Amino acid sequence: MKIIKRVVDIRKETETLRKDGKIVGLVSTMGYFHDGHLSLMRRAKKECGKTVVSIFVNPAQFGPGEDLKKYPRNFRRDYKLAEKEGVDYIFSPSAEEMYKPGYGTFVEVETLSKIMCGRARPGHFRGVCTVVLKLFNIVNPHRAYFGEKDYQQLVIIKKMVKDLNLNLEIKGCPIIREKDGLALSSRNKYLSGEERENAAILNKCLETAREMIGGGERNLEKVKGCILERLRKNRFIKKVDYFDFRNTATLEEIKKIKKEQDKILAATAAWVGNTRLIDNKIIKV
Ligand code: PAJ
Repeated sequence: MKIIKRVVDIRKETETLRKDGKIVGLVSTMGYFHDGHLSLMRRAKKECGKTVVSIFVNPAQFGPGEDLKKYPRNFRRDYKLAEKEGVDYIFSPSAEEMYKPGYGTFVEVETLSKIMCGRARPGHFRGVCTVVLKLFNIVNPHRAYFGEKDYQQLVIIKKMVKDLNLNLEIKGCPIIREKDGLALSSRNKYLSGEERENAAILNKCLETAREMIGGGERNLEKVKGCILERLRKNRFIKKVDYFDFRNTATLEEIKKIKKEQDKILAATAAWVGNTRLIDNKIIKV
């Protein structure tokens, strides 16, 4: 496995791979790997001739007062884990390599960036789209793999690819969870023991939504009311940013299930102590 830090160098490598007829897969990450990240690498490895994993804690997607400085990092551990998965290249540029002095171009997918997580984190998806487009331009992969854990991010990236006629395929991959249902996240490290135990409530609430809808409930405002009440009763949940039902493709809000709907997205963001966690589930109707 090669570690590459400079844009010119990874570009040269993938250009050669493409000339040799290899399919190049890209997994973009901010490092501090867990099984969620590794599942994307496995999928890329299975479907592509060569796999590039980028590790870059992207300053542009963190707002003022967010956790950019304390975001967990452990390159040695990441290196070993990626190597074990058979990854071919790690691209880990410095912030200066990605954003040269005087940097001034940003990409924004309008509307979709302003709802859900975008409301609580203005500028977040602008930072994500900017870095992801840069990575696509630098690595020039045939396919790029993203987790459904960050469902809104996945929808926004697909929209950017379509709107800007980017020539690659975006692959969504299922959420990997702990035994108690908590979705794996690098940020779970911030949780205290008690917070960690209580964090599973997010997945449980999404499960309850699934059960209520499965039981025939069509009024989603009612489902949401029950769930918000349950979340507010838990003293470890400091704030709920949203618990929404949305169209799986367009992210439009759904308040009542109509006959033609065959699936809906239930998605939530909530603060467990000082840690903001997100989770979601696609519910078949
Ligand atoms: P990061 O949070 O490191 O996540 C990297 C990729 O792993 C994303 O596609 C994310 O959806 C996926 N992922 C995270 N947890 C997962 C889980 N439990 N199951 C399945 N997939 C999971 O998302 C980012 O980084 C950044 O925004 C990035 C796209 C790299 C741009 O900076």
